[in-house]
Amino acid sequence: MNLEIKAIAWDECFVSDDSKIEAAILFAWENTAPCECFPGLLESPALKDFKGKPNELALVYYQAPDKSGPERIILAGLGNPAEFSLPVLRMAAATAMRKVRELKLNRAGLVLDQMLCTLQKGGIDRFSEEVLAREGAISAAAALYAYNRFRTKNKERECRLTEYAIVYKKTPRRELAEKTATFVRAVTSGLQLTKDLCNGPANIITPAAMEEAAATVAARYGFKIQVLREREIREVGMGAYAAVFNGSAFGGRLVILEWTPEGTEHTAPLVFLGKGLTFDSGGISIKPAAGMHEMKSDMAGAAAVLGMCEALASLNCPNRVVGMLACAENMPDGAAMRPGDIVTSLSGQTIEIQNTDAEGRLVLCDSLTYAEQTYKPKAIIDIATLTGACRVALGSEIAGMFCTDEELQKFALTAGELNGDRAWPLPVWDEYFENMKSIVADMSNAGSREGGAINAALFLKQFISKDQTWMHLDIAGPAYNEKGNALREPGATGFGLRLMLDIAMGWK
Ligand code: BES
Ligand code: MN
Ligand code: ZN
Repeated sequence: MNLEIKAIAWDECFVSDDSKIEAAILFAWENTAPCECFPGLLESPALKDFKGKPNELALVYYQAPDKSGPERIILAGLGNPAEFSLPVLRMAAATAMRKVRELKLNRAGLVLDQMLCTLQKGGIDRFSEEVLAREGAISAAAALYAYNRFRTKNKERECRLTEYAIVYKKTPRRELAEKTATFVRAVTSGLQLTKDLCNGPANIITPAAMEEAAATVAARYGFKIQVLREREIREVGMGAYAAVFNGSAFGGRLVILEWTPEGTEHTAPLVFLGKGLTFDSGGISIKPAAGMHEMKSDMAGAAAVLGMCEALASLNCPNRVVGMLACAENMPDGAAMRPGDIVTSLSGQTIEIQNTDAEGRLVLCDSLTYAEQTYKPKAIIDIATLTGACRVALGSEIAGMFCTDEELQKFALTAGELNGDRAWPLPVWDEYFENMKSIVADMSNAGSREGGAINAALFLKQFISKDQTWMHLDIAGPAYNEKGNALREPGATGFGLRLMLDIAMGWK
């Protein structure tokens, strides 16, 4: 996608034919006349049947009396102010942008003042202007994503938009428009990277390809990068991690990106660790065939960490951050781990492999130990498509949040409420470790089916020191969805990037 996202003044939108925006996105409440700042708009016959219901659109071919302004106005319904929520705004903006896409336009703008003015008139005062601007603007951009890398036909599906303008009519809004555009640019390109990796097939997006993607981000933005390959992973003693890639032709990569702004060299970093299983067949405990192709997205956590790294760098994050991608592939093979095998983790604790399909926790546990030993982190946040059980518990929109630090949990809950990456707390009470006991090793990698998401969190907790601030996010539900909507194409969702970005930028 070659898309330019920029803030621009209304008057500048129409000075020349090749800068002219072809459509302006506006908003309206149900049964309420849209704002008066577009002379003549209200009299348009195109609005005759427009009610302003959520996700309703009106396409108005428009000519202002003085011949200025866009040729098209796309008016998006917001419904009733009493039922307003950020998801309503997001869907409205995305639905409008889908229309732009369908019309194959090259340049479109969202009129920031009009959006904020409409929301204000509806009495929406529980969100800051910054949040409203951000969510509206970014959701419109989200509607532009599509994964076309391997399509050789139907090229007309491709998005033609080359310019997405955040338009301000009045100068006082200029700063907000610019701030919003910067944010939307950073997050949109991060999300694109995350989704492209996640939608990419496992024969192409291998652990080596993940390393390459990380190296590209590192070189572009000035991260220090370090990669542990098969040999190093074995040599440092990550026996659990190595067991996972033993059956794969592609090997494993623990990729580490360090973001150290000047002056933060001696501060404890925030570590974000993503599960990066480029394919999870289940291994010898092989998965059923139905839906197995979706396991190309079992690296969604690592992809979200990398996308977040790109975004935080373009936003000039002031904090020291380490991104870790624990990449491997889980395959059945003569060299693959078997049920009953016992491996020794980097922490020294031994693990009996009772189910080779519980592989995510094996790459994560050694990476967690490595993170603690190497960085003495201020906090470790791991993110993983870890358990089908979490998807069963919370469905496909919400992640499971397991956190031993009340303040961090509160921060993440509030952030998710505003950015849409919602995660819900589940307990990490030690009783459930009972489910993870082995009669021959320190623990088993698979427990009872009941409480599977909590069991997995308890497994990880064995590798976290008592005084280490830690959060585990299980994104098996929301990371990948074969049902799409206005905001997202079917497939990868990029879930977690924004939640982690907010933590990286703002958690003190
Ligand atoms: N990657 C899967 C979890 C998963 C399932 C993610 C569905 C997304 C959608 C994970 O490696 C796995 O297989 N977990 C097992 C654990 C069990 C064997 C203890 C599971 O959830 O069944
Ligand atoms: Mn698995
Ligand atoms: Zn997995």
